[in-house]
Amino acid sequence: MSTTAESLVVKRIQGKVALITGGASGIGESTVRLFVKHGAEVLIADVQDELSQSLCKELGTPDIVSYVHCDVTCETDIRNSVDLAVSRYGKLDIMFNNAGITGDAELRSIGTDCDNFKRVLDVNVLGPFLGAKHAARVMIPAGKGCILFTASVVSLTYIGTPHAYNTSKHAVVGLAKSLSVELGEHGIRVNCISPHAIPTPLLLNLLDVSDKRKVEEVVSENRVFKGAILEAEDIAKAALFLASDEAEYVSGVNLPVDGAYSLSNQTWKTGLYC
Ligand SMILES: NC(=O)c1ccc[n+]([C@@H]2O[C@H](COP(=O)([O-])OP(=O)(O)OC[C@H]3O[C@@H](n4cnc5c(N)ncnc54)[C@H](O)[C@@H]3O)[C@@H](O)[C@H]2O)c1
Repeated sequence: MSTTAESLVVKRIQGKVALITGGASGIGESTVRLFVKHGAEVLIADVQDELSQSLCKELGTPDIVSYVHCDVTCETDIRNSVDLAVSRYGKLDIMFNNAGITGDAELRSIGTDCDNFKRVLDVNVLGPFLGAKHAARVMIPAGKGCILFTASVVSLTYIGTPHAYNTSKHAVVGLAKSLSVELGEHGIRVNCISPHAIPTPLLLNLLDVSDKRKVEEVVSENRVFKGAILEAEDIAKAALFLASDEAEYVSGVNLPVDGAYSLSNQTWKTGLYC
């Protein structure tokens, strides 16, 4: 019997099939890696073809992990992606609606352009809605399934990100709660994960900085929980838990992975109550 470290990993989602939007980069990429490690077959749905294809090549053969070009705002793309997961891997157990954008920094102002605002809502709300709609189409007949959304700490507290982004993340939590009730009747669980800041391309673009370490330093200074540094893999681990049978009765939850950041009003440090 092999005793390599790999063979000793307890595979928590062995045999499950997952579709992960935004799987080419950041949180999605980390989740693809962790899900494959834990025995899932994974279809990456993204718009970054080269990045996605090289990730697939690195992680295994197409019977384990593969890629489909999918713009989440396009219903035909989403429909095809769900159908491809089923035709290639036989079923769909986990739909992770993770792709997202922040929109331009100018969206912080109420004077922002309407098209920019709509674009963020299209990717961050319409996309996840379409993902859930088509996942439910194949999960309802199966009588089971898990739908996840990446929301954000901004669904819980204001941190200065653009209005459109904040609006979209509140909306996705509302969508998840609403769907958890409807789809619970069919054995489908629906949950959100709300991460605090992680220096992925999304955050670096928003802050208009190229030095990842600079962002890490600022995030590190401002965190409440000092026991660890938040990384994309921490969100992947939360997704793994929610997608696994360990969470079989967990539905309708917006799980913060923010080290209690959203509970702390940072103005307490000004000494108002001390
Ligand atoms: N990084 C953070 O600090 C942070 C914090 C909270 C929540 N989030 C959320 O996490 C999710 C993932 O973001 P990330 O930080 O990993 O960023 P990222 O930029 O590394 O990854 C986002 C991925 O989504 C894809 N994508 C964008 N638009 C798409 C579209 N129309 N169709 C298909 N794919 C599309 C991109 O190509 C990219 O691969 C987003 O929903 C984001 O809002 C991120």
